[in-house]
Amino acid sequence: MIGENGNTLYLETAHTSYIMRVLSNGMLQHVYYGARIPREDMSYYQLFRERSFSPMIQVEGREASADTIPQEYPVFGRGDFRRPAVVVETADGRMVNELLYQSHEIVSGKPALAGLPSLDVDTRETASLSVTLLDSAGGYEVVLHYSVFEKEDIIARHVEIRNVGKEGIWLREAASLSLDFERKDFTFLSLSGAWARERQVSGRPLGQGTISIESRRGASSHQLNPFAALTDLSATETSGEVYGFALVYSGDFRIGAEVSQFGSTRLQAGLNPETFSWYLEPGESFLTPEGLMTYSDYGLGEMSRHFHNVCRRHLGKCADRRGRHPILINSWEAMYFDVSEEKIQTLLESCQGLGIDTFVLDDGWFGHRRDDTSSLGDWFANEEKFPGGLDRITRLCRQYGMKFGIWIEPEMISRDSHLYAEHPDWCIHGRREPVESRNQLVLDFSRQEVVEEIYERIAALLRNYAVSYVKWDCNRNLTDIGSDSLPKERQREYSYRHMLGVYRLMDRLTKAFSDVCFEGCSGGGGRFDFGMLYYMPQIWTSDDSDAVERQKIQYGTSLVYPPAAMTAHVSACPNHQTGRTTPFGTRGETAQMCGYGYELNVSALSEAERERIRGQVKRHKELEPLLYEGDFYRLKSPFTSEICAWELVARDQTKAYVFVGFQRVIPNCGGEYLRLQGLKAEGRYRIRQLGTTQYGDTLMKAGLPLLMPEEEYGVTVFDLEMEDEE
Ligand code: DGJ
Repeated sequence: MIGENGNTLYLETAHTSYIMRVLSNGMLQHVYYGARIPREDMSYYQLFRERSFSPMIQVEGREASADTIPQEYPVFGRGDFRRPAVVVETADGRMVNELLYQSHEIVSGKPALAGLPSLDVDTRETASLSVTLLDSAGGYEVVLHYSVFEKEDIIARHVEIRNVGKEGIWLREAASLSLDFERKDFTFLSLSGAWARERQVSGRPLGQGTISIESRRGASSHQLNPFAALTDLSATETSGEVYGFALVYSGDFRIGAEVSQFGSTRLQAGLNPETFSWYLEPGESFLTPEGLMTYSDYGLGEMSRHFHNVCRRHLGKCADRRGRHPILINSWEAMYFDVSEEKIQTLLESCQGLGIDTFVLDDGWFGHRRDDTSSLGDWFANEEKFPGGLDRITRLCRQYGMKFGIWIEPEMISRDSHLYAEHPDWCIHGRREPVESRNQLVLDFSRQEVVEEIYERIAALLRNYAVSYVKWDCNRNLTDIGSDSLPKERQREYSYRHMLGVYRLMDRLTKAFSDVCFEGCSGGGGRFDFGMLYYMPQIWTSDDSDAVERQKIQYGTSLVYPPAAMTAHVSACPNHQTGRTTPFGTRGETAQMCGYGYELNVSALSEAERERIRGQVKRHKELEPLLYEGDFYRLKSPFTSEICAWELVARDQTKAYVFVGFQRVIPNCGGEYLRLQGLKAEGRYRIRQLGTTQYGDTLMKAGLPLLMPEEEYGVTVFDLEMEDEE
């Protein structure tokens, strides 16, 4: 709900209130964000004061330092020395800005963000507030858009900047959201890592100065995810105040928190100013990516469920998911680049009767690709490997009762390719030789003709073969940024323009082939974000398929993204990334919480192992309703203990599935009780593996007994079913 009372504006979700107020001098004050409170006059709620070395302004009938006023969208140059949300270089070449309230509008639904992924417009359930601020001397307007997702306790924000003057202006910085708190006792929580070690949970306390996370790689990155939370210093999974922030964007970003000299905190999220600038002609306007905010006073678990719910109810393809994820056999770890018709036939044959429904032909099938040195851009079958063309493979799949999926990497080009021979200037390049990474170059997606040609090539591929699944990979980050097609004053627009070009292609392809299930991937989880999830309902979580590492990666990823948005496969041991050998059952159970599949040479497995696959697939199908519709709870963190435990609970609380992974064997060690969450306190739950029935209350307060398994890297699972109430 959105309401107004005089100069105060209120946004309300089921459990939160967000309040702003127009001050007497026209500044837009941020008043409050937190647990829901009654709508009332909040003019008493201010800590503005006069401070030395902080210039004074006239506000609310007295003098106060601008440095002490919490603001909705702060600027630089007029006495607030904290980090600005927007920096505009005006026609006089200066960057002195001042934004004052002009008007506001409350509408049902949500303004569309043309060309950008964003939460869906739902006129029945969503209302939006747009507040227009004006810099009259600077000649530009800033419109702050807020949309309320009431049930999910999410507020979506984005900003529109319009040049209303007579001369050109440059945006040097434009955050998607900015939020001031009158406190600094927060932990800054983020998801950090590297290739094959993505999204590890890390937290550090704030102190005076700035903590920021960012990407300047042209992708949201393996290294730092576009998410951060400010939490109480003592917050846990189930207690404490938590503010979560995430961007619906997949390119360069920055999220930072600055603690001021007076102990206030300013949190900002948006495009990374280091690789950004945008020129606006008179009359032109600019849109930032969307940022999401949520608040929970029940710890991190509740914050995650807010993000999960808004994603699966309102985010593009995640909300539109048609049916369940296919259960895959992927060729990569089974064959790497060495794919052939013969090998595929043997693999398909060995998968017969196991319940696997889709074969995905990964890298190596196109152009004259033998390794990673050639053919990106030539999206037609490698005739040497597939003399009968891909038709034969699709026919084989049909013969074995499977659907056909294929790997592509549309944003890239190899020097050794027909595409490069035809268009050597289509890669991103400057005056220097462009830097290669994995022997490949990046296509200049700011150019419409490049996006157009790649669309035609991929569309032809999807049209000509019965493709039901696409794995969309992206195996390097951007260097040499800039484009021949842009004038000098627009070169720094490249990073954003590139991402907009990628989104244009994704939008067209996913709309034109709406029955195809697209999986996002970027060398594993290098682009795991809400931007990608708008177009693709699932993402290959990491190239690290080792079950023990995966438990950490999936646990970290679940902080923001729903389990059903992750994909996970059972792979061979010793594991190809870590050399570790884990039990077959551990690999299966670890992957069960995600979109499921296999990535190993099934024909080399014993009959007993194949039988286990049959059982695992059957089990996955049973767990699917919990995975897609249930609530996810983290019970024990692998980052702070030797145990990784999570739980899926049905929406109606009648069923639950508990996973416990032991990160290593501790000799001669005791057991412990694992407290469950989310059950009906008075419900009686039958625990299949223990053969007992207990109250939900007991299981949540006293817990389940856990004994260390005797094998290394063991897993214990529990299936709970509520007995009918008499
Ligand atoms: C990186 C992906 O994450 C892998 O799964 C595989 O598809 C390779 N690329 C292929 O080059």
